[in-house]
Amino acid sequence: MKSEFDPRSLFSISYGLYIASSYSGDRLNGQIVNTVFQVTASPPRISVCINKENLTHDFISESGVFGVSVLDETAPMTLIGTFGFRSGRDANKFENVGYKAGTTGAPLVTEHVLSVLEAKVVDAMSVGTHTIFVGDLLSGEVLATGSALTYDYYHKHLKGKTPKNAPSYIESESKQEKIEPEKGANR
Ligand SMILES: Cc1cc2nc3c(=O)[nH]c(=O)nc-3n(C[C@H](O)[C@H](O)[C@H](O)COP(=O)(O)O)c2cc1C
Repeated sequence: MKSEFDPRSLFSISYGLYIASSYSGDRLNGQIVNTVFQVTASPPRISVCINKENLTHDFISESGVFGVSVLDETAPMTLIGTFGFRSGRDANKFENVGYKAGTTGAPLVTEHVLSVLEAKVVDAMSVGTHTIFVGDLLSGEVLATGSALTYDYYHKHLKGKTPKNAPSYIESESKQEKIEPEKGANR
């Protein structure tokens, strides 16, 4: 059966933006993700999809836990640049950001964040380049009120791009790297 695929058909899928985090020994790390969602209500479970090349992937696999910090619309592009376009293999991303240690030991970002969650991995599915981690919620806390940062807002208002390791990466966007967040319109 011949099918046609227009990549633009994926653009209208909505997502939020989050920092998924974990740890290894005394090392902390986290990365931007758009792939957090609640899987079930009873028990309360969430999932996240992480590229196998990312340091965060190694840390979640090793520790068996992950944190999620739900970003709000005030999140500056410098924060997104640090967590979404750099690897923790090259820098300590938590050096210049407000955070606290969760009950699992995962670092939870407390700036420009509406709520923080922690989960214990109960299942992991390899989906080729990425792994979908499913976790039972261990904690959840509301930190602020405001508007959640959506993927749509990130693209339309912050003019943000999506790097190669994100599941929603579109190859034709890669030519626009010159306006990646670090060099682009900081707010
Ligand atoms: C808007 C946006 C969405 C992203 N979504 C994901 C995602 O859902 N999964 C993923 O593995 N990487 C995603 N990324 C890419 C990672 O954040 C990026 O590869 C990061 O540098 C990995 O860092 P680490 O090696 O320290 O773990 C996204 C990046 C951006 C900017």
